[in-house]
Amino acid sequence: MAEGHGKPSGPDLVEGIALSDLPDGGKLLGHCGDEQVLLVRRGAEIFAIGATCTHYGGPLVDGLVVEDTVRCPWHHACFDLRTGEALRAPAFSPLACWSVEQRDDRIFVGEKRKRTAAKPRNGGSGQVPEKIVIVGGGAAGFAAAETLRREHYQGSIVMLSNDEAPPVDRPNLSKDYLAGKAPEDWIPLRRESFYSKNDIDLRLNADVASIDARSREVVLADGARTAYDKLLLATGAEPVRLTIQGADQPHVHTLRSFADCKAIIERATTARRAVVLGASFIGLEVAAALRSREIEVHVVAPEKRPMERIMGPQMADFIRILHEENGVVFH
Ligand SMILES: Cc1cc2nc3c(=O)[nH]c(=O)nc-3n(C[C@H](O)[C@H](O)[C@H](O)COP(=O)(O)OP(=O)(O)OC[C@H]3O[C@@H](n4cnc5c(N)ncnc54)[C@H](O)[C@@H]3O)c2cc1C
Ligand code: FES
Repeated sequence: MAEGHGKPSGPDLVEGIALSDLPDGGKLLGHCGDEQVLLVRRGAEIFAIGATCTHYGGPLVDGLVVEDTVRCPWHHACFDLRTGEALRAPAFSPLACWSVEQRDDRIFVGEKRKRTAAKPRNGGSGQVPEKIVIVGGGAAGFAAAETLRREHYQGSIVMLSNDEAPPVDRPNLSKDYLAGKAPEDWIPLRRESFYSKNDIDLRLNADVASIDARSREVVLADGARTAYDKLLLATGAEPVRLTIQGADQPHVHTLRSFADCKAIIERATTARRAVVLGASFIGLEVAAALRSREIEVHVVAPEKRPMERIMGPQMADFIRILHEENGVVFH
């Protein structure tokens, strides 16, 4: 999504590089045709994988190599150097891998390798459950369902979410999408067809009210019951809602869901001034996003400096000045 479209940088790896240019433990950015490729050397082994994180395009050349994995420097997705597989959130899609050859103290990158399906994880000697129910349609619930299918779980998967939207990239709701700089199709973690194609029974507007552990069923708010063999609770967290007078006015918003974000965007088209309550990550991201919509923004919070508790006073002052330079007023 955030990939650069300029000329690929670094040496042409098809032409080859000297082995001495890639010391043990080192990384090197090059290209094969138009594609940026990252070479990683671990002892006698050399890996060639896509250089751009499949989440939001983080530069893996700046990431950390830990054993046979590379971690993205931006949000710490983790990829297998041998297979390109995304081992940890927030990335789900794998990286491409290329074959590597060593001749006469030179390294050559060859063909892009065919993707092999992920190996089924050794589930131990226990019985495989027939039906897994996941409560929650956030990133965690989604990742669980996606990983089960990727690792060849054959049983039934039901995802129950009390949200009206399929799993979304929630962090983007306070950033580019709110600022009007990201298209709507960036927001769903996967298209709706993903769920039917992977036989994941995603049920939206399904509010789980209780669990009947004895009969192994979850009970929805409307009384409907869904049986499970294994149950995963991935219900996430809720924002702190203020109980002060006026908080229930229609033009007072909370930012959590896709629908919340769309409501704020709609309001922002006519609003002249916004007050953001809270001066930590999400509050300040919202302030920045709304400023780029040319709205007057005031941030109100009890702390003396924004994010001081997390970042310390010096960083907090830096952050405050940066926002003030962009027109945010702090109270
Ligand atoms: C605006 C915003 C910006 C953020 N930015 C960042 C960021 O930049 N970096 C970062 O690391 N994190 C960020 N976060 C935090 C990140 O989004 C969360 O850590 C992440 O969403 C947690 O995922 P989760 O699946 O555990 O829970 P959630 O995303 O909270 O999902 C929980 C799901 O459970 C459902 N649910 C809850 N109760 C029930 C019930 N009783 N029955 C049925 N379904 C239920 C909910 O509808 C939801 O679908 C941000 C969060 C917000 C709101
Ligand atoms: S861009 Fe790599 S983890 Fe987000």
